[in-house]
Amino acid sequence: MQSKSRLFTLLALKEQLVVGYKIGYERKLGHFYSWLGGVDPSFRKQGIASELMRRQHEWCRRNGYRSVRTHTKNKWRDMLILNIRHGFDIIGTLTDAKGEAKIILEKKL
Ligand SMILES: CC(C)(COP(=O)(O)OP(=O)(O)OC[C@H]1O[C@@H](n2cnc3c(N)ncnc32)[C@H](O)[C@@H]1OP(=O)(O)O)[C@@H](O)C(=O)NCCC(=O)NCCS
Repeated sequence: MQSKSRLFTLLALKEQLVVGYKIGYERKLGHFYSWLGGVDPSFRKQGIASELMRRQHEWCRRNGYRSVRTHTKNKWRDMLILNIRHGFDIIGTLTDAKGEAKIILEKKL
């Protein structure tokens, strides 16, 4: 996290408990990278990830970013579907250090 520029983190809290989070940073000038995110299993399907994404994109627009990019894998199906439902397009694939395929998604803001 220390090596990333313009890191932006959102937390979803239930009283003192962190039940969801979303972390991203500046990929290059005007382009944001949504890095990590998740929702506690007992708090899923209530719209928390969708709200975190909506607020991340709103922050990005207000801060001059024109696109947001993210990577995911086929096995993280819920996140893949969530991204597509929220307007991301699949723009390519790459192979990670473990030899697994990663899906590259991007959304114009
Ligand atoms: C992917 C993940 C973040 C989604 O979190 P979430 O908070 O459950 O997401 P949402 O509630 O916004 O949306 C999920 C589904 O719940 C539905 N939903 C939202 N609010 C709802 C409500 N009030 N009642 C019923 N369903 C609802 C959404 O329509 C969506 O439906 P779909 O699965 O058919 O698309 C979560 O599953 C997760 O943490 N997964 C493991 C971590 C992970 O994969 N990280 C990504 C690595 S790249």
